[in-house]
Amino acid sequence: MFKVAVIGCGRISNSKYFPSLSQIENVEIAYACDVILANAEKAKEDFPSIKKVVSDYKVCLNDPEVDAVCVCTPNSLHYTVTMDALRAGKHVFCEKPITINYPLSKEMAEEAEKQGKMLNIGVCNRHNKSVEMLREWVENGKFGNMYHVYCNFRCFRNIPGLGGAFTTKSKSGGGVLIDWGIHFLDLILYVLGGAKLKTVSANAYSEMAKDLKAYKYESMWAEETANFETGVNDVDDFISGYVRTDKANISFNGAWAQNVNKNEMYIDFLGDKGGARLDYGGKFTFWNGADLSEEKPEYDIPDMYEKELVEFIKSIESGVKDKNHIDYVLESMKLLDALYESAEKNKEITL
Ligand SMILES: NC(=O)c1ccc[n+]([C@@H]2O[C@H](COP(=O)([O-])OP(=O)(O)OC[C@H]3O[C@@H](n4cnc5c(N)ncnc54)[C@H](O)[C@@H]3O)[C@@H](O)[C@H]2O)c1
Repeated sequence: MFKVAVIGCGRISNSKYFPSLSQIENVEIAYACDVILANAEKAKEDFPSIKKVVSDYKVCLNDPEVDAVCVCTPNSLHYTVTMDALRAGKHVFCEKPITINYPLSKEMAEEAEKQGKMLNIGVCNRHNKSVEMLREWVENGKFGNMYHVYCNFRCFRNIPGLGGAFTTKSKSGGGVLIDWGIHFLDLILYVLGGAKLKTVSANAYSEMAKDLKAYKYESMWAEETANFETGVNDVDDFISGYVRTDKANISFNGAWAQNVNKNEMYIDFLGDKGGARLDYGGKFTFWNGADLSEEKPEYDIPDMYEKELVEFIKSIESGVKDKNHIDYVLESMKLLDALYESAEKNKEITL
């Protein structure tokens, strides 16, 4: 039996990790751990196969029976918990983003290498069937020369937990770019077959909730972590960027909130022979430039969250790194850092 501890019992653990891990054969959820014990207890109530609940993650790390831990805490703790877990001899599956910046992410990769343990990152879209197909189609030449990728991850009102961990840079590393942009940009670099970054340029804004108490919204995810009275909001709620690579160039706009009531989440891949629009998290449409035909391939999309965990366990057994291994995700983190640096300095950054 493969024994796993889940550290952090919030939204992602309850919606994806506990349901997925409960399904996978030969996996036992040895611990649900949350610094707020009531969160771990609630998880056990909903998923009775969880063996134990604890509030101190070190208890899980000190248990020699635990093979691996899933890190589902706020971003800054990804570093702390992962480093402790690796040093305790555990394999780690850590949620995205790797952590709050590239230098710390690199340290995590080096520690995994040093300890000889697997460290995978929850860039789940790499296990989305649509994304896998697009990568194959690009590789097989169906798009011809892929010259540009454009993406949009913009919503009307979606700032999470205003004043809490999500909007406090020291805890999150940033706002919409690091929270949502990582999924989109990592996916694009993956589909392009590992593009090499050349220059990046970005502008970031925090206009929608400059005054925390004046921010108007209809609903707010992670609202239980919000702190309108004494909380901090020092992260981007809108970002616009341009990335030059040795393959296609990339332009994007992302908004957690904006005063345009349209939610647009898609990626356009533009080639000289064909182009495609991927509806984020869903399917894609392909247009053939030669005969102007439209193609909507038929396929099932398996649960990418479950698949990335299954592949993580397989990779531990085989010793062969999966595509979500930290080594293959570091470039995306480097890109985020460069974009934030460009926004801060208001100039283009050469990588
Ligand atoms: N892959 C995805 O699509 C996806 C989706 C959502 C969230 N995430 C990532 O998952 C992580 C968690 O996000 P969330 O939305 O579940 O947040 P959340 O706030 O709902 O949950 C975080 C949990 O961690 C707990 N926690 C904090 N410090 C802890 C500690 N020292 N020890 C144990 N538990 C601790 C909190 O009490 C909370 O219950 C974030 O890094 C986020 O970026 C990924």
